[in-house]
Amino acid sequence: MNENTGLSPEVRGLYHVVSYGCQMNAHESEKIAGLLEKAGYVPTCEPAEADVLVLNTCCVRDSAEQRIIGHIGTLKKYKQRRPDMKIAVVGCLTQRRDAAERLARTFPFVDIILGTQDLSALSTALERMDPVRDWQETKHLNDAVDERDRLPAVRAEGPSAQINIMYGCDNFCTYCIVPHVRGPERSRGAAAVLEEAWQLEQAGYREVQLLGQNVNSYCSEVDFCGLLERLLAETAIDRIRFMTSHPKDLSDRLIELISREKRLCSHIHLPLQSGSDAVLRRMNRRYTAAQYLDLADRIRSAVPDITLTTDLIVGFPGETDADFAETLAMVEKVRFASAYTFVYSPRRGTPAAAMPNQVSKETKKRRIMKLIDLQQAVTHELNRERIGRTEQVLVTGLAARGTGDMTGRSDGGRTVNFPGPESMTGRIVPVRITDAKSSTLYGQLEV
Ligand code: SAH
Ligand code: SF4
Ligand code: F3S
Repeated sequence: MNENTGLSPEVRGLYHVVSYGCQMNAHESEKIAGLLEKAGYVPTCEPAEADVLVLNTCCVRDSAEQRIIGHIGTLKKYKQRRPDMKIAVVGCLTQRRDAAERLARTFPFVDIILGTQDLSALSTALERMDPVRDWQETKHLNDAVDERDRLPAVRAEGPSAQINIMYGCDNFCTYCIVPHVRGPERSRGAAAVLEEAWQLEQAGYREVQLLGQNVNSYCSEVDFCGLLERLLAETAIDRIRFMTSHPKDLSDRLIELISREKRLCSHIHLPLQSGSDAVLRRMNRRYTAAQYLDLADRIRSAVPDITLTTDLIVGFPGETDADFAETLAMVEKVRFASAYTFVYSPRRGTPAAAMPNQVSKETKKRRIMKLIDLQQAVTHELNRERIGRTEQVLVTGLAARGTGDMTGRSDGGRTVNFPGPESMTGRIVPVRITDAKSSTLYGQLEV
């Protein structure tokens, strides 16, 4: 769906944007698409035929970085075939000076290399189609936030849209590159967020997802609960989700608000990272396993049906078998509906990369496999517990794999497939759950 892109009648060419990172990165790609459409480009799903190809990069783990570098290498053949094609590499990876300079050296055929914060510079570069290959330090200024907010977005299809409520991060978990590439935490003003939500509501969206590295520390003229209260009072959006929540900042007021307000989804993504206090301390997470458990208990006693999901890292420097066993124990105690599980990846410039006792590849592999097995069992068990219940499903479209089924998301965020007409897309419908696979629920429309 286009959002005031002011699409120029004169078509300048075709564009394609590839996103490699988190939801924030994907949302920024929607803004890049908005900029391109404003400049007169139209989308193509075929990268080879694009006149402008933009890669929006991530550097949170080495695997992401290697995948991107591998992909850029394969673009040389497009450029040889069509020398007029413009290739731009932007995002978190190119925000790092060393990475940007290495890319410029290795891939002379890349035309534009810009950092995360440089979306307005991208707009200028695209306008002139000048090569920009000298890395410049991007400023993480407050006014730059507003500038970015004003950019038009071309949103992914579907009834759900994302809103960035803040940028950057001040937490400096010792393993994490994000504060280094995204700068200090800055919150958008409540009025700007409300205006965007209101526009989305007018455009027919049923659900908004508020995005931030740590939404619980949102701070403008109101705090995060204040922002939610205003969204609830001043818009009629049916569902409001948010991510990510940092356990150290999630307030009792928020728990109370979720228990009271049906339009706030009963799902909290609450990264635990590790179950060992010693590891958590070295990660600079600023909570203990006991505090996390206590928080999870408080959440569950106020909202018994809440879905809790998490992020876990194995193989953090110095992690022993006993530390890892504590992570497994937490997975069993908290019973997360699902978890993103990661192998620790040293990031240059972060404190953990220089810590002693880095864990061997073999140990990391052994641990991650064990963790994935356990989490899959828990996920399956919790999914099976949904059988016989009725879920309110926001229908997002046809299910994959061509079964003809429709698919959507429950209030708790689970994927639910069921037979139904395509015209149901965008509606919230009751579905009685009849079966559960590892990551998907199946059901029948309730009449
Ligand atoms: N701000 C969010 C998410 C940030 S990145 C939060 O605090 O939860 C998403 C996840 O990537 C993190 O939660 C963490 O589990 C993982 N991650 C970050 N840096 C990593 C690294 N160096 N190695 C492995 N996983 C990492
Ligand atoms: Fe990274 Fe920690 Fe900030 Fe999340 S809270 S982005 S893990 S530093
Ligand atoms: Fe997201 Fe990757 Fe940047 S996880 S914030 S795109 S480093």
